[in-house]
Amino acid sequence: MLEINGKTRICGIFGYPVEHSFSPAMHNAAFKDMGLNYAYVPFAVRPEDLAGAVSSIRHLNLAGVNVTVPHKQAVAGLVDLLSPAARLAGAVNTIVDSGGVLTGHNTDGMGFVRSLEEEAGTEIASGPALIIGAGGAARAVAVALALNGAPALFITNRTREKAADLCELINNNTGCRASVLGWPKPGQQGGEGWVEALGAAAFMVQTTSMGMHPNTVEFPPVPFNLLNKGQVAVDLIYNPGRTAFMKLCEAAGCRVFNGIGMLLHQGVMAFELWTGRTPPVDVMREALRRCLEGRMQNAEIFLPKIDTY
Ligand code: ATR
Repeated sequence: MLEINGKTRICGIFGYPVEHSFSPAMHNAAFKDMGLNYAYVPFAVRPEDLAGAVSSIRHLNLAGVNVTVPHKQAVAGLVDLLSPAARLAGAVNTIVDSGGVLTGHNTDGMGFVRSLEEEAGTEIASGPALIIGAGGAARAVAVALALNGAPALFITNRTREKAADLCELINNNTGCRASVLGWPKPGQQGGEGWVEALGAAAFMVQTTSMGMHPNTVEFPPVPFNLLNKGQVAVDLIYNPGRTAFMKLCEAAGCRVFNGIGMLLHQGVMAFELWTGRTPPVDVMREALRRCLEGRMQNAEIFLPKIDTY
């Protein structure tokens, strides 16, 4: 247990539900390792109580909080200032309290960028990115990529209008060029633009919930036969630790990564914002690994024959 005393600074997470969050374990392990007098606690905040909870950050002099499902969008309208990424994404996952002024940040997208650079060694500016999905996670990732030098984005989504909206957001607000890629149909050999997109893409990121526990047999119908050997493919899902998408990409010769890196680095960046200090990343990673150990569903996943995709 951390030692709490009269000088302890409090951070936490607002979510509903919140009991499954890994963030308390991750942050408290880092505070303890560094001997920082901080503690991180979960707050189950109902949607109707969100505005009051945000005000309480000031009233209780909290150092800051993370914000998770279902509050990330709503909270963007309740803080005093927004970082450029949070404003563009329309979502906040980290609030910092500086003398009663609340600033909303979005470290989700930057967490992805950092994990890609550190784990895959991929430079964001090195080429276009291919994004599968256009929901909240895709939005945070697309905005972070566009603000950090990605030259172009190809975005594909089952609901085409959402991909088009996200492209418009990027094109109207950043120097990055975003274009919609058609959602492929199973068995389709490439379809509209896929040959060119996969040929140009420096990496591919899967942001949909397809393949997430318990729907582990699902995967987006990417033309896996067109993937390049050595191409980097990231799935933002971390449960299971290896998704059907990752296995199919791996079978096609890609270098694959799961969503643990993004989860870790969004936390690392929130920690930096609250404390002004660099946390021990390995300690946070180990805390996350221990949390996931008991929770991961790593049962063998049935895979379709790859040559039909
Ligand atoms: P998150 O915040 O995790 O991104 P979200 O905003 O609800 O969640 O977005 C979910 C994403 O997964 C969307 O891109 C969604 O596609 P649609 O916009 O067409 O709904 C995608 N998704 C979820 N289930 C899917 C499925 N069975 N097939 C295709 N796409 C799916």
